[in-house]
This record gives sequence, structure tokens and C-alpha cells, in this order.
Amino acid sequence: MKLGMFYWPCGHHIAAWRHPDGVADSGGNLPHLIELAQMAERGLFDMFFMADSVSFWRGSLDALSRDAHCAWIEPFTVMGALAQHTTNLGLVCTATSTYEQPFFLARRFASLDIISRGRAGWNLVTTGNESAAQSFGYDEHIEKSVRYRSAREFAHVVRGLWNSWGDDAFVHDKEAGIFFDKDKLQVLEHKGEFYRVRGPLHVPASPQGEPVLVQAGASEDGRALAAETAEVVFGASQTLALAQEFYADVKTRMAAFGRHPDSLKIMPGLSVSVAETHEEAAAKWNVLQDLIDPKTGMELLSERLHYDISGFDVDDYLPAIPIDELGGSRAELIVEMARREKMTIRDLYRHFAGTRGHRHITGSATEVADFMEEWVTERGCDGFNIMPPLFPSGLEDFIELVIPELQRRGLYRTEYTGSTLRENLELPRPPWSARDLKQSA
Ligand SMILES: Cc1cc2nc3c(=O)[nH]c(=O)nc-3n(C[C@H](O)[C@H](O)[C@H](O)COP(=O)(O)O)c2cc1C
Repeated sequence: MKLGMFYWPCGHHIAAWRHPDGVADSGGNLPHLIELAQMAERGLFDMFFMADSVSFWRGSLDALSRDAHCAWIEPFTVMGALAQHTTNLGLVCTATSTYEQPFFLARRFASLDIISRGRAGWNLVTTGNESAAQSFGYDEHIEKSVRYRSAREFAHVVRGLWNSWGDDAFVHDKEAGIFFDKDKLQVLEHKGEFYRVRGPLHVPASPQGEPVLVQAGASEDGRALAAETAEVVFGASQTLALAQEFYADVKTRMAAFGRHPDSLKIMPGLSVSVAETHEEAAAKWNVLQDLIDPKTGMELLSERLHYDISGFDVDDYLPAIPIDELGGSRAELIVEMARREKMTIRDLYRHFAGTRGHRHITGSATEVADFMEEWVTERGCDGFNIMPPLFPSGLEDFIELVIPELQRRGLYRTEYTGSTLRENLELPRPPWSARDLKQSA
């Protein structure tokens, strides 16, 4: 079973920062981030993941003023610092294909890969939040299908640049005066619909072949791109049936690109409240739930659905919302869950505010491990992106209680066996392939 440690300022629960143990300045506190990464490494996690956006996540300043997730250190910079304080933990962060340039991005991640000795991963997002357009001089957000089309070309360029150098290109032959072998250098010379990038990349070859490519798209466009290029896919499946559908669909699509299903790991988000007993775990979770103020809950839900529900009674069911007015695949998942579980608006925001639409489980170590084991053995996923509700205690609880239980069942490593992220995730090392990439452009 593969495990990511998904960081979110203060914890994934919206009210985490208000908890007496919440580290309110979490997003700007490097020593605290280092402590969490080292803790994740003690828990033998595959990776530390930090999400990102290129504008405020949320439109309303009023809502934002009650949310710890309003400001945080730019994740790529954090990864560079974490690389110096960890040894085996993968370091994955988000960067947008919609608003970055592939050359800059390829160069940065290739460099992180070297300074971390092969532990870098890039979460490719196309950026869903519309306000991002205004950070870059656009009046309107770029249309989704265009974002995904350019993302495909972007990923192709980045991977081509990462393949500039063959593994043993740098011969450093002092006698003959040859620094690198010209035959081991490839110039990409990409000319496409969105990008023209000559290359090569002037960063030495990656210790793991190339950084690991991660994605989280769940829509048709997202799945298609993941099947073609991703090596890890995060998701937000709510039920085993939905997870199985997603798993089978994405893995089946891979064959069309000549890829083996094992060369992509699917790791849905999982929020966990765990304690010695179920009752204690529930009590812990309820402390956080009771700290959500209804205004914040309603606002969050409206934003996620892309539909203003502020005029409705919190104790009513959701009104019927036409599917094309909803804000994408994740909003659809939330509406589907509300119907299925007969949840009122208050139930829904209490559920949703703590997990942002991801699956949550409250229970003892046995209950949590049972859940995780079932999803993995029933082919719902290859592992999870763990979302502690509160830092640091939620992560500590998971490591002290759930990890040993997973180990006891033979589902989880007892030590790191590889040193790169690719080795830990058991992902194949891509062959040096710039020429192939160029041909398939
Ligand atoms: C675990 C997880 C992490 C994500 N991280 C980010 C992120 O850091 N930045 C971002 O803009 N979107 C992020 N997303 C959103 C996805 O990139 C994607 O847009 C979303 O899941 C909807 O899928 P779709 O784009 O195919 O509709 C994340 C999604 C998930 C499930």
C-alpha cells in the first residue's frame, strides 16, 4: 500500500486553526513544516504532498478571513527546504500547466530532483479556480478543454526536457578534455499548438530518470490525460464502488498508450480521525466539527458546488441543481453523496468542511485499517493520500496507531527499501526517451 501525507495549513479540517492545539501560522512556519515532513518520514510515507494555487482559493474575502488556508509559503520553495531535512520521503508539490511555462517548470523540478537525490514529484494541475486568470493579466479563465489540451502538450515538453541528458552523459574526461558526450544529449525542438521549445534543459540528468508525474483530474479530460502521462493520480472517491469505477477506467485507458497498469498508482484522499477506541476518535472529530461556524460551512459548500445556497435553510435538503450549473466533477460527487446519504445542508457542510469532498473515516486503528485494506484489495486504489484533520496531532495519531496495524497485516513497509520516490512507489524508471517523445508529439 502506498501512502502520501497531504499537507494543508493547520490540518485538513476547516476549523483546525481554531482548535486549542492548532498551529495557526502553519502555512508560513517552516520549522513546523519540517517537523511534519520528518514525522511523515518516521511513518515511512512515500511522499509529502503540498497543494497550491496561483491566487486565493476562495472568491469571498469575508469567507477567506475565517480560513487558515489564505496564505502559505510557495510549495516549491518549501520542497527545497524539506529536501535538506529528510532522506527518503518523496517531495511532491503542485504547479499549474495553465499559467506556467514548461521550460521554467522543467528546470525547477529537475533541480529539486537533484538536490533531493531523486525524490521530486510534480502534481500537474490545470487550475480550476477562476480568479487565477487575474494573476496573469487575463480577464477570464481559460476554458477547461483548452486547459487540458495545453496541459497534454505541456507535459510532453516537460518530459522531453527532462530527457535532455542520457544517464552517463557527463564523462568528465579530464585527460581528453571532454566534459560531456555529445551523443548523450538530445535537443527537443518542440513546435506545437501552444508551445515552441527548443531545449535542451541545462540541468544534469535526474537521479530517478525523471521526476514523478502526479495528477488529480477526475473529469473525462482529466482521466484521459492521467492515463497517458500520470504516474500517480490523487482522487476524491467517496465510495468503494466509485473508487473501483475510477480505478478500472483509468487503468484500462492506459493500454491505448502502451502503458502497464502498474506504472500508475491511484491514491485517493482519505481524512482519518483515529484513536484507541471508536468513541475517542469520534469525540476528537466532533471537537473540530463543533468549531465550524454555520456561515463558513454554507459559504464553503456554495463555492464547491458553484451554486449559491445561502438563501436556503441549513436544515433542509439540497435543492435540485441542474448538473451543468455545478462546478465540475467534484461538485457532482458532493451532490451525489447528499442524495445517497439523505444529508441536509448542515449535515453536508459538516461532512464536507472537514474533508473538502474527500472520504473521511473515524475509528479505531482496526477500523481504519479494515477500511484501507478493503479499498486496496478490492481494487479501489493502490494506496491513499492521507489527510490529517489537525496538525501535528492527527498525523501523530495515524503514525502511532494505523501504521503499525497496516504493518502487522503485511500491507505496509517496515523500512524504506529504495531511496528515490520512484523506487518507493515501485514505478518503472522511464528509459532515456527524448527521441521517442519527439516522434509522438
Ligand atoms: C488530492 C487532490 C489534490 C489537488 N490539488 C490541487 C492543487 O494543488 N491545485 C489545484 O489547482 N487543483 C488541485 N486539485 C484539483 C485537481 O487538479 C482537479 O482539477 C480536480 O480534481 C477536478 O478534476 P477535473 O479538472 O478533471 O475536473 C486537487 C485535487 C485532488 C483530488
